[in-house]
Amino acid sequence: MNNYLDYAASTPASKSVLDAMQPWQSDDFANPSASHIAGKKAADAIQKARATIADKIGAMPSEIIFTSGASESNNLAIKGLAFKHLDKKGHIITTAIEHKCILNTCEFLESIGFDVTYLKPNQDGQISPDDVLSAIQPNTILISVHHVNNELGTIQPIAEIGDVAFEHNIPFHTDAAQSFCKLDIDVDDMNIDMLSLSGHKIYGPKGIGALYVRDARDSELVPLIHGGGQELGLRGGTSPTSLIVGLGAAVECFPVTQPAEYKEAIESIKKYQYVLNGGKDTVSSIWSITFQSDFEVKRFIETNNWLISQGSACNAMSNIASHVLASVGLSEDEARRTYRISLPPFFLGKS
Ligand SMILES: Cc1ncc(COP(=O)(O)O)c(C=O)c1O
Repeated sequence: MNNYLDYAASTPASKSVLDAMQPWQSDDFANPSASHIAGKKAADAIQKARATIADKIGAMPSEIIFTSGASESNNLAIKGLAFKHLDKKGHIITTAIEHKCILNTCEFLESIGFDVTYLKPNQDGQISPDDVLSAIQPNTILISVHHVNNELGTIQPIAEIGDVAFEHNIPFHTDAAQSFCKLDIDVDDMNIDMLSLSGHKIYGPKGIGALYVRDARDSELVPLIHGGGQELGLRGGTSPTSLIVGLGAAVECFPVTQPAEYKEAIESIKKYQYVLNGGKDTVSSIWSITFQSDFEVKRFIETNNWLISQGSACNAMSNIASHVLASVGLSEDEARRTYRISLPPFFLGKS
């Protein structure tokens, strides 16, 4: 599919990922919790992937909890922590431009008595650490700010926000679905206490992700799925060996350069009249562009049959301006002329 330019929505599983997964789907199918030799072999493969992922963000293998993806990781981080405070409830700080899985989780928590502050970004989509600081209340139990915005590509100052959280002894969670493997992340340097990541954004399989939890063995999180004690009791269910091995392989093989064929696509976008959203601090693989007129949109659509999104894939199902574009001040009309072009991601380094 060389007209596919929607890589922020999902990436294909790479050949090395599929090859790494294959044996664990068939010959080596044993339950990794089983005490026999075949179970032990699967458990070892899972541990290897866990170590690879932990190493990527400066964490310990025991701090990586496998989930079904970033949506589940975000739910576990936020609800899991909130459920510890069900008696007195408490206050959560997040932003108006999080992924819907965070916003809907927070809305649910509001419905059962928690208080949530949704910080507004500036017109580039950036959240100010000073605004995070000003929003802190005596009963703030969690700060959750994503790393890279999925619609704009804007990089948030999460190290600074982590500092604010650390100084006030408040747990800090970041949704790194769009940044994991693409930007440098060190959970200690950035004072991150929980971090969500997803396999299908990094050429890994769908249906697998992880939540980094600082000192997970002593974690206060309440599990959302109770089971047979898997993942330190924080996430029950038989561990999917092949998906986990695939996630580990995706991290190991993540590309360090952009495929050359996409340079042409980038050049051809430049022929049109548009405004680039998201400011200077963005990842180069996500372009949010607002065409100057309906005429330019028509010209663009008629000349390219690219598979791209208006807003994010999740918003594409509803026909209204996305909450992100509205938050950075785009009118309904501008939002209608806005498209997200997302190229195959690769390691950028900076954070
Ligand atoms: C920023 C962000 N968070 C969370 C998610 C959800 O990830 P998953 O599909 O792994 O549940 C996505 C994917 O669309 C995303 O871009």
